[in-house]
Amino acid sequence: MSAVPSAGHGKITVPGILERKPGHSPQNSAVAKITCLTAYDYPTARLLDEAGVDVLLVGDSLGMVVLGYESTLSVTMEDMLHHTRIVRRGTRRALLVADMPYGSYHDDLHQAVRNAVRFVKEAGAEAVKVEGGVRRMEAISRMVEAEIPVMGHIGLTPQSVNAFGGFRVQGKSEEAADQVMRDARAVEAAGAFSVVLESIPRELAAQITAELRIPTIGIGAGPDCDGQILVIHDLLGLSFGHKPKFVRRYANVGDIISTAVAEYCRDVQQGHFPSDEESYHQPGEHHSAPLARQR
Ligand code: KIV
Repeated sequence: MSAVPSAGHGKITVPGILERKPGHSPQNSAVAKITCLTAYDYPTARLLDEAGVDVLLVGDSLGMVVLGYESTLSVTMEDMLHHTRIVRRGTRRALLVADMPYGSYHDDLHQAVRNAVRFVKEAGAEAVKVEGGVRRMEAISRMVEAEIPVMGHIGLTPQSVNAFGGFRVQGKSEEAADQVMRDARAVEAAGAFSVVLESIPRELAAQITAELRIPTIGIGAGPDCDGQILVIHDLLGLSFGHKPKFVRRYANVGDIISTAVAEYCRDVQQGHFPSDEESYHQPGEHHSAPLARQR
């Protein structure tokens, strides 16, 4: 495991994220919104970190966008530790947050803290993320007592997909909105340093953002949150299937890969790759014309 880079020189830290909440201190009335993206591998982590993203989340969305599962429920502690270590090696400036997978914090609170500690000790995470509000208060406060910063996650929590009966927008009725508000208050009271609001009405997200003292990070929660997060594969056009309304595609990397690979296959089959310039030679030997295999 590579060590967590030390604070200073622009390193994003948990107190630094808290300071980005408008009104946190009299000096920060016009702070920049917090930028967050998911990352699961070394090159992506390096590119996002060097591009200046504030928070890299090793999300358990890993299960769906990288491992090919239908939901996040099958993702294990070992999967998450493995990918967090990889992202750690590519991250210097951003705050590195690891998602706790389904089942790793739901039952035994001692086990929940031990699992959270593993992300910090064995994988170099600087914080963990857990899904759920009122029901997760105890787990969040135990982790915070163990010196582990926690990012909450409420609204559409993908680990609750079976309980919700699908990936549905949450908090639409008055009663449901009240529950999301209670969850937000619970996460803050338990000591989380920020909270992800996923797939809830913009108006509700704005209300939560105005009430909480910790930053809110939206995904499908409108523009009034203190920051935004997207799954990197969605942003780059590298994911398959249904594109949720809240995803904006900034590139179509899937098409770029398909075109490049089709061209490579054509070149290999037609003997155009590799060329003589792309070949090694014995000393003194030089072929000016490529020895392409003719078919
Ligand atoms: O797993 C994940 O990627 C997430 C974010 C989308 C918030 O939880």
